[in-house]
Amino acid sequence: MTASTLKPLARASVEMPASGIREIVNLVIGMKDAIRLEVGEPNFATPPHITEAAHQGALSGHTTYTQSSGMLSLREIIAESMERLNGRRVTPGQITVGVGGVQVMSAVFLALLEPGDEVLIPDPAWPNFGMAVRFREAAPVPYRLSIRDGFVPRVETLEALVTPRTKVLVINTPCNPTGAVFPRETVEALVAFARRHNLYVLSDEVYEQLVFEGQYHSAAPFDPERVITLHSLSKTYAMTGWRIGFVIANEEISNVLMKLQEPLISCVAGPVQKAAEAALTGPQDCVREMRDSYRERRDAVVEVLKQHDAYLYTPNGAFYVMVDISRSGMPSRNFALALLRHKRVAVAPGSAFGQSGKDLVRVSLATEKSKLIEGVKRLCEYVDERAGARA
Ligand SMILES: Cc1ncc(COP(=O)(O)O)c(C=O)c1O
Repeated sequence: MTASTLKPLARASVEMPASGIREIVNLVIGMKDAIRLEVGEPNFATPPHITEAAHQGALSGHTTYTQSSGMLSLREIIAESMERLNGRRVTPGQITVGVGGVQVMSAVFLALLEPGDEVLIPDPAWPNFGMAVRFREAAPVPYRLSIRDGFVPRVETLEALVTPRTKVLVINTPCNPTGAVFPRETVEALVAFARRHNLYVLSDEVYEQLVFEGQYHSAAPFDPERVITLHSLSKTYAMTGWRIGFVIANEEISNVLMKLQEPLISCVAGPVQKAAEAALTGPQDCVREMRDSYRERRDAVVEVLKQHDAYLYTPNGAFYVMVDISRSGMPSRNFALALLRHKRVAVAPGSAFGQSGKDLVRVSLATEKSKLIEGVKRLCEYVDERAGARA
């Protein structure tokens, strides 16, 4: 049988655009001399007590299937850690553990969406939201965030986007790719908007512990039934490769998620769940130290941007900064490809995060400081060179 006689693959999956960050990652892998500022991955090792707990977990027999929503002991620990972190009370039955925030986020969309439903997604946003909505044959509807507002949403701009098919509002604070941390009133107003239109809220809070100034505000307390919060150990504990995250939702949603996890993943690996327990119960100085280090790098990058007259705003959380490259006259993807080729610096094109990123690139602060500074200098110089060539 030849390929042409085979039945077509699923349209929604075939037509789903690939991540625009991947293109750069694939090119930079193997370029030994390049400075990598394109990926959102902590450059710290996982703290040793966490790795040791996984080792002990494997040795002591945590090598079998667990409950599909996660070991009860882990979910109890998560519930305690939520109470410590932001005073929120949840039961283990409201928690679903999955293979990173990515996987549980996709499971949430499977649980909530019918084909043709619409989901309000920030623009710019982490690309995976739109991808997961699309493979459900639902439609991502971008709502624009403006650099003029410090990338904080303006609730009044959302009203015009609501249709009878709108089902979910996605919010993300602290935000990837902008680093914005929303004020309490904004979070409250977003949830009130969702309530007015009877929408679910998927609140991505995976960077909740990476806040440099002020405070992060969870959306959950404003409407615990309607709001689903997404969390991850990846960024907080430098555990991206361990693949563990979780969502907290009302019990009805959580029961559906528990069923869905069975055919999707069965469960997260036992030793990884034990590592997560150690991360949440162990010493938290590692989190503080990493956060301090990101803050220091953020300050250094802001300084370089100021020196080059390229400063626009200061990100208050996560570990990213968006840089305006409009003076170069190049669309962000072309700019990112050219910067890599000519200056050996990899950044994520803003267009990978949505239309409003077309004149921006994202710089990740999760890189060793001297390389980061050198990379941002080369980036600014390249914008200057291109602007000079156009003048
Ligand atoms: C905004 C946001 N949410 C969720 C995730 C999921 O991370 P993970 O799947 O590693 O838990 C990421 C990772 O980059 C992210 O940036």
